[in-house]
Amino acid sequence: MGTMTSTLLPALRAEPIDHTPVWFMRQAGRSLPEYRALRAGTSMLAACRDPELVTEITCQPVRRHGVDAAIFFSDIVVPLQAAGVDVEIVAGKGPVIAEPIRSRADVDALPELDPEQIPDIAESIGRIRAELGDRTPLIGFAGAPFTLASYLIEGGPSRNHEKTKSLMIAEPETFSALLAKLARISATFIDVQLGAGAQAFQLFDSWAGYLSRRDYEDHVLEHSSAVFATLAGHDVPSIHFGVQTGELLGAMSRAGSTAMGVDFRVGLADASTRVRPGQALQGNLDPALLFAPWEALAPRIAAIVREGLEHEGGFVFNLGHGVLPDTDPEVPGRIVDEVHRVSAEILAS
Ligand code: CP3
Repeated sequence: MGTMTSTLLPALRAEPIDHTPVWFMRQAGRSLPEYRALRAGTSMLAACRDPELVTEITCQPVRRHGVDAAIFFSDIVVPLQAAGVDVEIVAGKGPVIAEPIRSRADVDALPELDPEQIPDIAESIGRIRAELGDRTPLIGFAGAPFTLASYLIEGGPSRNHEKTKSLMIAEPETFSALLAKLARISATFIDVQLGAGAQAFQLFDSWAGYLSRRDYEDHVLEHSSAVFATLAGHDVPSIHFGVQTGELLGAMSRAGSTAMGVDFRVGLADASTRVRPGQALQGNLDPALLFAPWEALAPRIAAIVREGLEHEGGFVFNLGHGVLPDTDPEVPGRIVDEVHRVSAEILAS
């Protein structure tokens, strides 16, 4: 079924389709032996800046799984590094920042991103589009201002985000200046991708789910909204996703994306009542369930497809967070076929 015309773009726009499109967050990466072979000996961030590697890694899951979209192989900290921030991705840990941002002077010293600092990103996108042709759309992405701010303020991955939240309530103006700057950096990073041919984009606010709705609305929403508003002129569909954001779906949906990514902890029927009327849903199979025997997993896939197609708006099948590194690389492709089969049956009836 990998040669079917992708229904991703019409599904995001809630236009009529004959089967549900599928892609997987983190579909490129460590679950694929062909990825591990290519990455051997190259650091994560160096790989992200090498158009030949980026093109190959982005296309690997399209070939292997027959997914309905490619997601650009990069990382949320790539634009920060390109702008001049001293950041590394440490294996098994995540991004680590040499000089964390903790004061107004630090925020003022954070550089802006100039599109001329990322010609490789445009080159990679161009090469990927040439490789995929018009069969499989390419999704660009960036980290959302709050998630980037958390890495910059904490200095690395954080369980509780205590320094971030402390700055947020003690120095709201400093916090707001930082998020405003990060919104410009994220928008520039995505703008370059869309300018070079990416056909949709996803904003990842991975850590937003650690905020109360009130703090999200008071300190974060306006900055994520600015990213979507800046990019509105491209007229491409957008997706907004965060982990553990069931309680924030209503607030996040007001930031302006075409679709809301749904974490696996909230059912699609509930999600459907929380987003803007007509806004598409994307999700939300628990990535851990991919380790279950197929006979146990298949009914869960069908249940999500049925729930997603009940939503009055578009629906895109995905996981509720990224593919786990130890996932059997044969399973995602089986899921793609199953979603196509079950959804085609429902949509034909
Ligand atoms: O989804 C995809 O296939 C596209 C590529 C992609 C990567 N990172 C590649 C990557 C995307 C969309 C991201 C986004 C990203 N990066 C997020 C948001 C999404 C989410 O998962 O919530 C976040 C929080 C990051 C920061 C980051 N980068 C982390 C936490 C890690 C994992 C560190 C580890 O080793 O456990 C990374 C590194 C990273 N980014 C890898 C990949 C494939 C693994 C690096 C490797 O192969 O060694």
